Amino acid sequence: MTDTLPDSPTTISVRPAATHIGADISGVDISQPLDGRTVQEITDALHRYKVIFFRGQSLDHASHIAFGRQFGDLTYAHPHDEAPPDGFPEIFTVDPQWHRARYGDGYIKQKQRRQFHYVTGWHTDITPAVNPPAGSILRAEVVPEYGGDTMWTNLAAAYQGLSAPMRAFLNQLRAEHRYGGPDNPPPDSPYAKRIMANPLVAIHPVVRVHPVTGERTLFVNPGFTSHIVDVSHRESVALLDMLYDEITRTEYTVRLRWEPGTVAFWDNRATAHLAPTNVEDLTGRRTLYRVTLIGECPVGPNGQESELVAGEPFTATRNVATA
Ligand code: SIN
Repeated sequence: MTDTLPDSPTTISVRPAATHIGADISGVDISQPLDGRTVQEITDALHRYKVIFFRGQSLDHASHIAFGRQFGDLTYAHPHDEAPPDGFPEIFTVDPQWHRARYGDGYIKQKQRRQFHYVTGWHTDITPAVNPPAGSILRAEVVPEYGGDTMWTNLAAAYQGLSAPMRAFLNQLRAEHRYGGPDNPPPDSPYAKRIMANPLVAIHPVVRVHPVTGERTLFVNPGFTSHIVDVSHRESVALLDMLYDEITRTEYTVRLRWEPGTVAFWDNRATAHLAPTNVEDLTGRRTLYRVTLIGECPVGPNGQESELVAGEPFTATRNVATA
């Protein structure tokens, strides 16, 4: 974490965006270094609202990274990205056309397949790592005039919405998360080969205790959770279907319409999100950039920590083997 400026008397404005999740933050220029009080207010809003939105900001790669570092250490761009922008190893590019040019059609086909998948691409970032990112900060540079919205859901509210006996049952379960699990690109694509050359698998508690707020969150997601361990295949499928129905309930979600200069900062320990799946239908380019905050190993309600099955913890180190 970088040093912050002395505190100023100004405070940010926080306007909730939906019933259970999301808030708009105004009154702060996040391209500039922030004082300690502002960093704390933004952190508090993040933990309370799970995803916060800043509008009309003018970040470039350097100030995006500098903003992120005020909230924690940053990861390398992405476990499967060997080409972050020159001089900015922390920046992950989110742009279907960029991915297609670099890795072929696999990435696009994966997004298209999500349109026909039961739960359509909801995921929490990089949960196949034993230490999934603590948070993600995504900024929009180019967006289509319409379409291309992103949605988030509150995994603490989803847990709380379950009955007490169900919560008690889930508290003891663990699940495997695998890159290239349920949401894999076509196996013959270069992108799939890259994923196979860099296996990333972890077992996490199904219910995670948030290390800051102490809230319990339903820590499974259709993008990466392959199965619940120690139960039968049939039981795992039925349980996950039920949990995915819960976490994607409309009342736990918020939807963001991007404009250039919009920044979304989410608590990756307490949310899942849904990127657009119909990227081929968008009228115009959609280019966003993301940095992620290094996370810790999740811990369940019984104190049990996540286990690494394959790969390395996700840190600032570049660790990508090309296929
Ligand atoms: C992401 O998963 O970070 C990308 C979200 C998006 O493209 O809307």
